[in-house]
Amino acid sequence: MPPIISIEHLSKSYATGFRALKDINLDIKRGEIFALLGPNGAGKTTLMRAILGLLPPSAGTLRVFGRAPQRGDRGIGYLPQVRTVLPDLRVRGLDFIASSLHGERWGLPQLGRHDRGMIEETLDAVGARDLAKRPLSDMSGGERQRLLLAQSLIGSPKLLLLDEPLISLDARHQEVAIDVVRKVCRERKITVLFSAHELNQLLGTLDRVLYLGNGQVVLGTVEEVITAPVLSRLYGTEIQVVRADGHIFVMSRGRDVEVADHLHDDDHGHGGHEHQH
Ligand SMILES: Nc1ncnc2c1ncn2[C@@H]1O[C@H](COP(=O)(O)OP(=O)(O)O)[C@@H](O)[C@H]1O
Ligand SMILES: [Mg+2]
Repeated sequence: MPPIISIEHLSKSYATGFRALKDINLDIKRGEIFALLGPNGAGKTTLMRAILGLLPPSAGTLRVFGRAPQRGDRGIGYLPQVRTVLPDLRVRGLDFIASSLHGERWGLPQLGRHDRGMIEETLDAVGARDLAKRPLSDMSGGERQRLLLAQSLIGSPKLLLLDEPLISLDARHQEVAIDVVRKVCRERKITVLFSAHELNQLLGTLDRVLYLGNGQVVLGTVEEVITAPVLSRLYGTEIQVVRADGHIFVMSRGRDVEVADHLHDDDHGHGGHEHQH
């Protein structure tokens, strides 16, 4: 089976001359749960926007579903990092999603039975059925996030791009959101690309990661990438990684950087040593 995303020697420079991505090589297989990790400014959003066909590569090739990326590809669900364009907060959950279905951001289209059924099914899948009738104004941050997740799943995408989906959630809601993504995407064989700038609960869910940082790129499983030598090289400072009692502790100079759930060796069969230099 051809990879869902195939990237060879991809570089991207902005008009300012700033090179946000340099020589990225990566294949993502169908059904993988994959993360772009790295500090702010590492190029994670740039890579997602390139995959969406919003930014042409400066060099190299990028193929999605075996062809050049196409803007507005219905096979891709997208949760953008900047989520400031929330509509009228009086709008109910169902109408909010309906308004994105036909690209009508501000109007409320009449919903056909098929569309309504599809939206309700998607809300169900993310455990948000009760949000259908509630206005956005009375939803918590976590509930709105779940609604946005449902929105990104509308239309049965084969690939889901979630740009920093955990950023505004507390630890418990992060866990809920990750569980939902994992469940829905494993069931539907959706390939998931997360981005995150923290090492967090996500680590326990990922098949592989691409770590961008300090002008370097490392690709592999969490076990391979989240190690003291690799992270110390990427951060340019001494990092310790302690695995104990089912958790990963990443520390710098004796202080906690982050705490992350351990990657259990159950259903993560994707191994492979594909480090880049
Ligand atoms: N439109 C742009 N023009 C010029 N530089 C940009 C533009 N967008 C992003 N950058 C720069 O590219 C780098 C990578 O940005 P980004 O992909 O948003 O990183 P991340 O998502 O990992 O935080 C940053 O240094 C950012 O300032
Ligand atoms: Mg970003």
